[in-house]
Amino acid sequence: MRKPVTNGIRIFLFILAFLFPLSLSAQEVDRSATGGAQTLEDILARQAGQTIDTTYQLEQLGDPESAAPSSADLGVLGGASDADIWRAYRWGETDLSVSSRTAAADVVMQDSGMKWLNFRAGPLRTYGGYLLLGMLGVLLLFYILRGKIRIEGEKTGTTIERFKPLERFGHWLLAISFIILAVTGLASLFGRVALIPLFGKEAFSAYAWIGKWVHNNISWAFMLALIWVFLFWVLHNLPSRHDIGWLLKGGGLFSKHSHPPAKKFNAGQKLIFWSVIILGGSISVSGLSLLFPFEFHLFSHTFSVLNNFGFDLPTELLPHEEMQLAVLWHSIVSFVLIAIILAHIYIGSVGMEGAYAAMGSGQVEKQWAKEHHSLWFEEVEKANSSTTPAE
Ligand code: HEM
Repeated sequence: MRKPVTNGIRIFLFILAFLFPLSLSAQEVDRSATGGAQTLEDILARQAGQTIDTTYQLEQLGDPESAAPSSADLGVLGGASDADIWRAYRWGETDLSVSSRTAAADVVMQDSGMKWLNFRAGPLRTYGGYLLLGMLGVLLLFYILRGKIRIEGEKTGTTIERFKPLERFGHWLLAISFIILAVTGLASLFGRVALIPLFGKEAFSAYAWIGKWVHNNISWAFMLALIWVFLFWVLHNLPSRHDIGWLLKGGGLFSKHSHPPAKKFNAGQKLIFWSVIILGGSISVSGLSLLFPFEFHLFSHTFSVLNNFGFDLPTELLPHEEMQLAVLWHSIVSFVLIAIILAHIYIGSVGMEGAYAAMGSGQVEKQWAKEHHSLWFEEVEKANSSTTPAE
């Protein structure tokens, strides 16, 4: 019963505000209690993200002319309090200079901090969390409905080398560093809401300190491994005519007895590879800009390029805004790559019989190779037979 009434009141108030805007907005706020300064209501309204009329602050910039000289009793150092000076600065009514010359030292005030904090604590955590939980749910459902993808033909009992030791080293350097980065990164985002209630502030702050150090330093191993796997595998991940057929058949993952032909990497793996290279590259670049704060201006440059394609993005970003965007972009892209890698880990471990061996010992069952990478298997068998001397 209540709902239609409240809507009715809202609509009525809206019409009223529309018809008599001046009367409502001109309502004088009594600031006598705070000597003309902002009231508690102002602070609460701003924290709630409401826009409040702050022009009254322009009258609160201090009055040096009438200030008692500092030599007099109760004399003052100048006629403007710190609050007056900050207000004057906010309104551009004074010209502050700063003594420190560090990066971003000349930015004394910036408005985007609260928006950034609210976005990070709100939509970023919520939808990032949904994405990862969603992916885990989908993988569990896939496992329940499709089950482990088995080697269907008769196993030969003989193996073929799929990945050489250097390829596997690059893969595991990439994999282990990525997993550590993901865990420490998620902990820094969800620490306050998930870990502090569990372990308490002291334990969490100790962990957070170590986690940040590990995250900042293991990132170099990830970036090195990214270059490594790129150099080893890029030629095997160029698009080929077999990819369309593979994708159209869903790689045979959703139905039994269907094994579309594929070379060393099938279309699905090529998507993983390029996701890792492109998203991993973007996470690394935004991560580097966070490792060297205020040194890189990634977003103003990127936005100015994008503006050539009809966007209208801000190109004059404060160093703090660059950092805020770098943190958000770094986190958003990481959520997407972690979700993709969860699917990769599933298919590379419990989801497919015989797959793990490729990255474990490097030797795969020949029947597995025939079923999942038939064209690659034929190439290798041909190469092996041409190098093996005839009896
Ligand atoms: C425990 C975690 C992981 C397991 C069990 C795993 C397993 C595997 C296996 C078995 C392969 C070879 C597939 C084949 O024979 O074709 C592979 C390939 C690959 N892995 Fe992983 N992996 C893991 C984590 C990661 C992570 C964290 C990344 C990147 C951040 C990654 C990136 C790749 C790439 C790019 C390939 C080649 C393309 C592909 O097969 O998808 N892996 N992985």
